[in-house]
Amino acid sequence: MTIHWHGIRQLRTGWADGPAYITQCPVQPGESYVYNFTVSEQRGTLLWHAHILWLRATIHGAIIVLPNHAQPYPFPKPHKEEVLLLDMRYSCCLELNSSFNDYKPDYSKYAGEWWKSDVEAVIDEAMASGNAPNVSDAHTINGHPGPRSDCLGQGGYKLVVMPAKTYLLRIINAALNTELFFKIAAHNLTVVEVDAAYVKPFATDTILLAPGQTTNVLLTTDQPTARYQITASPFKSSPVTIDNTTATATVIYAGTSASAATILADRPPQNATPIAAAFTQSLRGLNSAAYPSRVPLRIDHSLLFTIGLGLADCPGCANSLRLRVVADINNVTFVMPRIALLNAHFFGIGGVFTDDFPARPAAPYDYTGAKQPENLRTMMGTRLYRLAYNSTVQVVLQGTGMLFPENHPIHLHGSNFFAVGKGLGNFNPDKDPKGFNLVDPVERNTIAVPSGGWVAIRFRADNPGVWFLHCHLEVHTSWGLKMAFVVDNGKGPNESLLPPPNDLPKC
Ligand code: C2O
Repeated sequence: MTIHWHGIRQLRTGWADGPAYITQCPVQPGESYVYNFTVSEQRGTLLWHAHILWLRATIHGAIIVLPNHAQPYPFPKPHKEEVLLLDMRYSCCLELNSSFNDYKPDYSKYAGEWWKSDVEAVIDEAMASGNAPNVSDAHTINGHPGPRSDCLGQGGYKLVVMPAKTYLLRIINAALNTELFFKIAAHNLTVVEVDAAYVKPFATDTILLAPGQTTNVLLTTDQPTARYQITASPFKSSPVTIDNTTATATVIYAGTSASAATILADRPPQNATPIAAAFTQSLRGLNSAAYPSRVPLRIDHSLLFTIGLGLADCPGCANSLRLRVVADINNVTFVMPRIALLNAHFFGIGGVFTDDFPARPAAPYDYTGAKQPENLRTMMGTRLYRLAYNSTVQVVLQGTGMLFPENHPIHLHGSNFFAVGKGLGNFNPDKDPKGFNLVDPVERNTIAVPSGGWVAIRFRADNPGVWFLHCHLEVHTSWGLKMAFVVDNGKGPNESLLPPPNDLPKC
């Protein structure tokens, strides 16, 4: 087992970051490891989750970092705060004992997925067959799928509110493999924060979260006393239908009569790309005097990463083509090492990784017209990209859609990044940078790269260590859609990775 504190920077404490074989070896049954780190200069909603195999399906929860008393929220103090965790559970009827009900501070709600089968068996079967894995059986809001015919007695999560108040909802997508739309019937939501970074407030009736993303919204209870449906429903740009259902919960105004009907939310269709695009285009960093944007204006490393699914030879696979689905960045399918990369880096152990990760794809590409077959095949490797301390990086993440038109929520460990541009089609290095937003780009730790489109992100490599970059759709990570940056120490007194703790597990 390992635990990752998703979005916590881990400044100089990469040993506590958690991804198995990247920053640590797994904690074995009966053993223990203390994750020791300081949260500084960060506040907001994040999540923690297991970071080995598919265990984050069931091992996850909310992280709430409250603001410093001297520097309260940059918006009026809410009447109350609630956590909404959107997730997946593998057994509906275990819910009554779930950790969500033990979660005492009266905070947010979560979203997720619900599996009837053992998720490790699901991915093992998929990896052995070379085919795509099964989808979950349902999504959930704070552990409940909502009223369902196959889960009697489970009424779904209820949020009781007072009229004419403002609530801060901390919404977390903890699902394994699905982007989710979130809605509350008849109410607008004012978005104030994503991934624990403040944004310029804007009102919307629908929000969108990729797995690993968090969104804080203000809900003002300005509607007539009644019961209102909350929905968390899948967004897929691909035509493949996901057959798991929408999770539902209810906002109930205090004093609503028990017999009152629930006002339903009209959830977006599964492929509502325009709604998704309108939401992401509205996101701007707050960039106020108290929270100025720290987007790097000058760039030392300009990288272009093509990301997508590809094919590799698989003599042992059961399918007739003897090929298996793999995923890659710049046609490199990442191979997990046998000892942790951070260990190999810190102690200078050779033969574990190379630092020759390609800065751009080798072959010319066109992901909108005639797709080149050479872009479909991948090579294996544990290849890292090396960055000098404090250097600045721009990565254009180009979605390829070679096999399936799918979005990829890409997550970077160790640093937040700024999303300076996005577009459809092939990135044009001569034209597209002219339209970049270098004033108030949204700051986040996970960003959805559109299928057959691109996003450009920037960050400063001021955190020495080894930092994982991967697709937060767990199935794509299993297939190899991952790489890591190695950030060297600086020369200053506080510019180097701290030594490993004594109880760090051994491989
Ligand atoms: Cu939330 Cu590396 O993941």
